[in-house]
Amino acid sequence: MFAGLRHGEYEWQDPKSEDEVVNIVYIDKDGNRINVKGKVGDNVMYLAHRHEIPMEGACEASLACTTCHVYVQSDYFDKLPPSEEKEDDLLDMAPFLKENSRLGCQITLTKELEGIEVQLPKATRNFYVDGHKPKPH
Ligand code: FES
Repeated sequence: MFAGLRHGEYEWQDPKSEDEVVNIVYIDKDGNRINVKGKVGDNVMYLAHRHEIPMEGACEASLACTTCHVYVQSDYFDKLPPSEEKEDDLLDMAPFLKENSRLGCQITLTKELEGIEVQLPKATRNFYVDGHKPKPH
């Protein structure tokens, strides 16, 4: 579905119709709420970049860092597809881990997630190593 688009480019496109809209609230580390109109298929980390929300995403969604760590409000946390083992392993290394922690780059907006709230942790740690080459999957 996203053939031909580079990482993050899809998120720079506006929803084509109201049917596609998925509203999301980002809460920054100071507690400020930022309402964003996303769309079905948007990656929560790249969408944050578009709106200058400080979610880092150092490894470009290749599951090699924890800088896109977010807390997902519980109602929505239960609606997300379960995390892969790799994501869990990374989260184990994330500072300020909570029960509702997920990696933002692994969350894709769907209609079911309308109104989702994600909060940024107080800090993230970047252990991403320069020169690391993500393996193609
Ligand atoms: S951006 Fe590195 S795991 Fe999400």
